[in-house]
Amino acid sequence: MSTECIIVQGGKRLSGVVPIGGAKNSVLKLMAASLLVPGVTTITNVPCISDVLTLQSVLEHLGAEVVMDSNAHSVTIDAGKVKDTAVPYDLVAQMRATITVLGPLVGRFGKASIAMPGGCDIGARGIDMHLRGLEKLGVSFKTLHGDIHAHVGPKGLVGAQIELAFASVGATENLILAATCAKGTTVIKNAAREPEIADLADFLVCLGARISGQGTSVIVIEGVDRFDPVKGYATVGDRIEAGTFLVAGALAGGPLTVEGVRPEHLATALMKLEACGAEIATTPTTITVSHRGSFAPVDIQTLPYPGFPTDLQAQFMVLDAVASGSSTVTENIFESRFKVADEYNRMGARVRVEGHHAYIEGVEELSGAPVQAPDLRAGAGLVLAGLIADGTTRVSGVEFVDRGYEGIVEKLATVGAQITRETV
Ligand code: EPZ
Repeated sequence: MSTECIIVQGGKRLSGVVPIGGAKNSVLKLMAASLLVPGVTTITNVPCISDVLTLQSVLEHLGAEVVMDSNAHSVTIDAGKVKDTAVPYDLVAQMRATITVLGPLVGRFGKASIAMPGGCDIGARGIDMHLRGLEKLGVSFKTLHGDIHAHVGPKGLVGAQIELAFASVGATENLILAATCAKGTTVIKNAAREPEIADLADFLVCLGARISGQGTSVIVIEGVDRFDPVKGYATVGDRIEAGTFLVAGALAGGPLTVEGVRPEHLATALMKLEACGAEIATTPTTITVSHRGSFAPVDIQTLPYPGFPTDLQAQFMVLDAVASGSSTVTENIFESRFKVADEYNRMGARVRVEGHHAYIEGVEELSGAPVQAPDLRAGAGLVLAGLIADGTTRVSGVEFVDRGYEGIVEKLATVGAQITRETV
């Protein structure tokens, strides 16, 4: 069976402007939120990535009509026709973010059935906080043959005080989505503060929800009993795509500018780029990076926002892999998000993994090699490593990269990379 891979010739200097698309980790939730609306909703700044197509198939399975316009980067969703509330395993298994339809389904229809999302390459990816929080709002669950059957009692959803044990992004989103339909007030404490959460809350407010505190750790939701369609809500820029290209610019010299992202959404990552020796310049919607000479090693600890984002950990590890000294990367969010270290080591890096820590000894130069992407962000990291490696790097597992990056090959080629996709 033929597969695709990305081929990179190392050593080219990168400079120029890279347009950044809408955030994958927001648009999937905005699309799920459209299930609340018995009408037609349009979302813009939608990236053409496979995860969006996967969610489209989930919404269509439920009965919604979904029209993607890849040229306009928009999606129009008519959820007025939704009648089914069951999501089968084969759809959930493709993408665990599908769990985000649980909140709107129980909110609008009072019931839902969804396959338990399995783990993935980066960790167990539990949903206990989603379920416990929804129970506080009046949802009861039965698990049967791998499916979760959710049911709202006769009193309907009722607002509650919920405190999350961990600032879970997904749990915060599902609880906001359900609470918008609950009678009375819901307060979510220790809520996740990611910009994608604020984007979802702002979208819901446009639909008629009453939410305050988004972006802080205490979010207050007053339930409402109707939602109105919104035309043309623009998804927030993808800070992780932007951060990925900024690491490319730092590694390969720059100056490289990413446009369509808010610098304040990447504050910690920009601090780390400057700490390793890169120069950063910003405007309200662009960030420019350049770098000359050697890289200083930087220690990294991934944390919930506004801490260093776990989704940029694999990419920043490339900077440390060629830094002039040793560094430690600590992964606090997921249990096994260091699989890419073995692939970096195939390229001559010196990364030693012990539990949640990766100990890195910087080397002079990486050497190009055939490597396999174990997950989405690691795949992007391997492409970045290929940009500076001596010789040719062949990254397999491109299907992972396509889940979260629209046109990564074309965008890197535009700023000077010698990079192609090939079917092998
Ligand atoms: C979202 O995942 C993102 N995905 C992830 O991005 C991102 O890494 C993560 O947030 C953290 O920022 C999407 O938005 C689609 P969590 P999510 O709930 O919602 C555990 C990428 O590459 N947990 O904050 O799953 C969980 O297992 C992806 O774009 C429970 O144990 O993140 C994980 O270890 C990867 N029980 C940790 O918390 C729960 O009920 C963080 O999970 C919920 C979470």
